[in-house]
Amino acid sequence: AAPAVASALAGLDWPALRSAVAGCQACSLCSSRTQTVFGVGHPQAHWMVVGEAPGENEDLQGEPFVGAAGQLLDRMLAALQLSRAADGPPERSVYIANTLKCRPPRNRNPSAEELAQCEPFLVRQIELLQPRIILAMGRFAVQTLLRSDEPIGRLRGRVHRYQGVPLVVTYHPAYLLRSLPEKAKAWDDLCLAAETVE
Ligand code: URA
Repeated sequence: AAPAVASALAGLDWPALRSAVAGCQACSLCSSRTQTVFGVGHPQAHWMVVGEAPGENEDLQGEPFVGAAGQLLDRMLAALQLSRAADGPPERSVYIANTLKCRPPRNRNPSAEELAQCEPFLVRQIELLQPRIILAMGRFAVQTLLRSDEPIGRLRGRVHRYQGVPLVVTYHPAYLLRSLPEKAKAWDDLCLAAETVE
């Protein structure tokens, strides 16, 4: 089903894509979500951050990364003078999206079917944004964008490409909250992304 959906999304602009996500019933997550979580940030942001899926707070508020992991992410971005604000200069702006637009029940891992159904939305977001750098956080973003099952530890530390766009892999901030030693590595990854885009 995914390729058919992808072609249906091909001509959509930001508002039309947002509506398509809001009305999506392609998988069973539509029956347990409070709302879809589309993405946030400047529509011409140079940076794009891709996470996993909405958690409880995101499902309630309709914005990605608003819980504890999001606060850590925002602090790390702020240290590079980067922000999710939609009205700043594009070169200092970050667009944040998730691989899945709906919260899996009890924050379980996304299934392969859910990832496949939701992927065309992320693909269209990237096409519309045309970011200068993508930061893929965690294994589900990486599986989707790089088609790789390798552990994050083996993929981080170098620049990959997604459709020609430089892509840096790093740990998910929720993991960093549980594993503080990896924070220094994630910081190195953000600095690598910053060097790549500037
Ligand atoms: N984790 C994610 O991957 N995305 C969110 O929006 C929140 C937590």
